[in-house]
Amino acid sequence: MDKGRFASGLAIAAALALGLVAPSGAARAEDTIKIGLILSYSGPFAENARQIDNGVKLYMQQHGDSVAGRKLEILRRDTTGVAPDVAKRLAQELVTRDKVDFLTGFVLTPNALAVADIATEAKVPMVIMNAATSIITTKSLYIARVSFTLPQVTEPLAQWGAKNGIKQVYIMTSDYGPGHDAEEAFDKAFTAAGGQVVGKVRMPVKNPDFAAYVQKVSDLKPQAVFLFVPSGEQPTALMKTFAEQGLTRSGLKILATGDVTDDDALPAMGDAALGIITSHHYSYAHDSMLNKAYVKAYEAAYGPDIRPNFMSVGGYDGMAAIYKVIEALKGKIDADKAMAVLKGMKIDSPRGAIEIDPATRDVIQTVYIRRVEKVDGKVVNIEFDKIPEVKDPGKPH
Ligand code: PHB
Repeated sequence: MDKGRFASGLAIAAALALGLVAPSGAARAEDTIKIGLILSYSGPFAENARQIDNGVKLYMQQHGDSVAGRKLEILRRDTTGVAPDVAKRLAQELVTRDKVDFLTGFVLTPNALAVADIATEAKVPMVIMNAATSIITTKSLYIARVSFTLPQVTEPLAQWGAKNGIKQVYIMTSDYGPGHDAEEAFDKAFTAAGGQVVGKVRMPVKNPDFAAYVQKVSDLKPQAVFLFVPSGEQPTALMKTFAEQGLTRSGLKILATGDVTDDDALPAMGDAALGIITSHHYSYAHDSMLNKAYVKAYEAAYGPDIRPNFMSVGGYDGMAAIYKVIEALKGKIDADKAMAVLKGMKIDSPRGAIEIDPATRDVIQTVYIRRVEKVDGKVVNIEFDKIPEVKDPGKPH
């Protein structure tokens, strides 16, 4: 071997050792499977990230950290909150430098939307564990969602309300994607069922001060309100404001998506939340063997002071989806083949059975109508009605 080739060989070996160049396809097959997990680990949505991360870790603890003979490596990245530019940069780095095989996580719609083009360009399957604006899955053929959409849970609630004596509603939502979806879905379904929307307001998603918005409800005295704010710090603050202004005992009927009575936040809300009617896809109190086992395992892993909520189940089921893809492809990840496996996939979830709609890559599932009640001293969401196999009504079917 001449000296020049020897020297360049050494340089490549050194670069490989330092992880500076990507190994060839053959070498990568024995490599780990890399999963980029993009979440809001800090900031006002940090609790959501903690829940999703707990779901991810629990799934891996129960099913092992190797699939089809390949070890999994989770690369965690923090968006710090609603920060599409940060999410985009992190995703770009994950695909170009770290060469991830999957992108996943995503609590917040703006962050998920900012990454959609990267999934398309880099051809990396992207599994949404929460972000719930209808349009997200239409933004890339490489996106599938295991969580829910706002229209999916809102429409059944509006229909339930209209059927159960509610005639007039004032709508309060967060002024961004999922809030707009919730507002539109409620307005449309409730009006179609003969109800009347007496007003609506959009509240800021960043640092909202709810006092003035809730004061408006006191002044207007509607028969009912419909609420959506994103899970995290806001539901507790919103319900505290309702209680402070004397609205929780006033006879005002409160309807909301399950984000507002998030299982993780209910203990802090306490009695102020009693009687709220919500619709959602998961309740910590869901009565099934699988959910009882899930709650037990979750509490054993993370202690009795944190209740698993819908975000944790999004993380858990998102990992189930990724494991199923890796198994089906025998550890050789190809984005198009991965999407083919995701389409029509069925998962036995703690919430009940779910399916990924092959036409839209969005989740089909039972939507539950629930009431906040105190059972054995615990404030919980008790499911009392259900609508099976609900598709996202936000899309043409
Ligand atoms: C979203 O940004 O899509 C989102 C965040 C929190 C929720 C629901 C939706 O509780």
